[in-house]
Amino acid sequence: MVLVRQYCGACHNVPSPDILPKHSWPAVIRTMADIGKQRTGREYIPADALRDITALYYGSSPTELPALPFDEVPSPAEAASAVEFALEGLHLTRRLAKDVLDDGRTVYGGDTGA
Ligand code: HEC
Repeated sequence: MVLVRQYCGACHNVPSPDILPKHSWPAVIRTMADIGKQRTGREYIPADALRDITALYYGSSPTELPALPFDEVPSPAEAASAVEFALEGLHLTRRLAKDVLDDGRTVYGGDTGA
């Protein structure tokens, strides 16, 4: 919607309605109007635009967000392998940053050690 792009998009990416449940949107959008007012020193989002934007977000958002099931909490073993995976990722990043200097020395992360 044009109003959303114009007003909400002025400060940050336009959020999708489904990131919050229905009942949260009116207060969030009021808060956004307040932030706009504080920053510009005037009514940044006009009342009629505010009403339309609120209606849009309220109308397009889910009644409730799905709850995260408890069984998705990782077991210690899974958590450990996630850490290992992250470390492997770091290692790969370093490998990608590996450089061979003219004199044949190999350096990581672009640090020539000079
Ligand atoms: C004047 C700048 C500004 C405008 C205009 C603005 N926002 Fe924001 N918005 C912010 C800032 C700053 C934050 C971070 C506030 C915070 O975390 O307390 C934010 C945070 C949010 C969040 C996350 C809030 C939360 O509780 O997690 C949502 C959702 C959001 N904005 C939606 C909107 C929508 C929808 C509009 C249009 C009606 C809008 N914003 C307009 C500045 C703005």
